[in-house]
Amino acid sequence: MSGVQWRGRLLESVSKNNNYDKIPYMQLATVRGDGRPANRSVAFQGFHGGTTGVLFQTDSRSPKAAEISLSSWVEACMYLPDTQEQFRLHGQASLHGADTPNDLLRQERCRAWAGLPHEIREWFSGPPPSQIPKSPPEAFHHAVPGPKDSPADSFVLGLIDVMSVDYLDLQQGRRQLFTRPHPDERWSLTETCA
Ligand SMILES: Cc1cc2nc3c(=O)[nH]c(=O)nc-3n(C[C@H](O)[C@H](O)[C@H](O)COP(=O)(O)O)c2cc1C
Repeated sequence: MSGVQWRGRLLESVSKNNNYDKIPYMQLATVRGDGRPANRSVAFQGFHGGTTGVLFQTDSRSPKAAEISLSSWVEACMYLPDTQEQFRLHGQASLHGADTPNDLLRQERCRAWAGLPHEIREWFSGPPPSQIPKSPPEAFHHAVPGPKDSPADSFVLGLIDVMSVDYLDLQQGRRQLFTRPHPDERWSLTETCA
């Protein structure tokens, strides 16, 4: 029940904070190979079906993808300025490309791809991110798949299997911790001091 509660609250908060062209961003922290943290902005792509799994999209060739394959532990932090709320989502991430056996994830990946502007879709057929270019950009003359085509191979959906949520409402001075020690267990809710 309380899992449903934080999910509903996040969606409601996102709809109330419809600035930034209506795209909510979150800071996604991963663990580097040397144990140090890495953090970057990613767009919140909604929930995986009716679950509490959180979706984001990225390039399978990026450092963050390599970090997730080494250690799946992540934390995503979303601040919603109009309502002064923060959600810290802690859990384990997995990446899903064309070969994912999950039908719904395949559909969600295609839908996310279709929603990308052309200039972003182009990146996924371009040189690998974060590398010093070995050849000029003109060398990358790969056709860019259209919104209705199969997504580029490097385009992957990240799925965060959320295991705890630290919710802070600055206006109300309220903090709640939602936890689920195991995916099969029920969510529990603890009110804590802000
Ligand atoms: C507002 C904003 C939104 C972004 N959204 C995404 C995103 O949804 N997915 C993504 O892979 N990178 C996104 N980026 C770029 C990342 O923040 C990051 O620079 C890039 O993915 C490289 O990260 P990495 O080297 O840690 O893999 C976004 C950047 C900004 C500033």
